[in-house]
Amino acid sequence: MQFSALLVAAGRGLRAGGGTPKQYRMLAGVSVLRRAVACFLGHPGLCRLAVVINPDDRAFYDTAIAGLSEARLAPPVTGGATRAASVHRGLEALARLEPAERPVLIHDSARPFLRRPVIDGVLHALGSAEGAFPALPVVDALWATRDGHADEPRRRDGLFRAQTPQGFRLDAILEAHRRHGLAADDDVAIARAAGLSVAIAPGCEQNFKITTAADFARAEAALEASMETRTGTGFDVHKFGPGNHVMLGGLAIPHDRGFVAHSDGDVLLHALTDAVFGALAEGDIGQWFPPSDPQWKDATSDIFLDHAVTRMAARGGRLVHADCTVICERPKIGPYADTMRSRIAQIMRTQTGRVSVKATTSEKLGFTGRGEGIAAMATVTLSMPAEAA
Ligand code: CTP
Ligand code: MG
Repeated sequence: MQFSALLVAAGRGLRAGGGTPKQYRMLAGVSVLRRAVACFLGHPGLCRLAVVINPDDRAFYDTAIAGLSEARLAPPVTGGATRAASVHRGLEALARLEPAERPVLIHDSARPFLRRPVIDGVLHALGSAEGAFPALPVVDALWATRDGHADEPRRRDGLFRAQTPQGFRLDAILEAHRRHGLAADDDVAIARAAGLSVAIAPGCEQNFKITTAADFARAEAALEASMETRTGTGFDVHKFGPGNHVMLGGLAIPHDRGFVAHSDGDVLLHALTDAVFGALAEGDIGQWFPPSDPQWKDATSDIFLDHAVTRMAARGGRLVHADCTVICERPKIGPYADTMRSRIAQIMRTQTGRVSVKATTSEKLGFTGRGEGIAAMATVTLSMPAEAA
């Protein structure tokens, strides 16, 4: 089923505290808003996504969606003083872009762990009602209180905790907001005030709303539990030619030869770059930086490694460990190994303790043994969000 989506992100996040509104804060390197946006853009039925923001947050918003060049993402809409006002403004903007009969799913940007089954459950329930929302039955005992003490028990049977996305036909929910949209915690309340029938779809505990500071800790823990470990390997060789130094691990090391290479020939950084691309399953250095492309002629190889690490970070990954071996008779690597580790750690934006540089000769055997060139191998271990696979 085709649908559009409205993501409300104009709140101030007062209960969560902290300087930056919660939807722009980072969770394992990816902002809450970007995660919510990605949930929708990943759904093949999505035709259009509009995000409602506070105009003061425009720079935060631009950073949060940087690099998502998506025709389905509409320009941001300015929100209002309440959630209902923000939804209303977003719906008015969507109605100028989308057909009146198309379903719209309205979602809190503060729920970054929305997954496809919840979206599909809401869309399915819309087949038999004018509205639908994910919800979970209340399982705890409920008490009305007086002066901080238990007063009357309340029956929990038939009570549900509402989540988002809440789905309706675009024209129906827009009309409901125009007439009844003043004060309501969610859009189901507004739909019911307008007399629409609203069905319950399966909710999901992971689809919780980040509301308080403690919810950030919960979100971090949930993400940590969903990380998987990936390993990548890289290998590279360069031939010696005339020169007075070689680039290795981002350092210029004095030698009586240089490298014959298109870039600076830093085999160690090339092997590391390939190892990161390998762990990401995103091709190899030659595909990202073709030697046939003149812009990479004489390029310094830290650019390549930086790019691979940027790809990793954009997918919410982090480097756990990198281990490298340089294979050559000369120059001697040992005296430079620790400086190389620091330089590599700097390029990979990690601590030196996560980077190892070793060296070996090949017992005067083969091309490295004959001193015709240098080889390097690298293995990296990454921690990546499992859903990014
Ligand atoms: N929201 C909005 N416009 C508002 C108020 C809220 O778009 N004027 C959005 C929030 O950005 C959030 C969602 O509605 O994604 C749910 O609201 P809530 O959890 O209450 O977020 P905040 O209002 O930002 O937080 P708080 O109430 O703690 O200030
Ligand atoms: Mg609020």
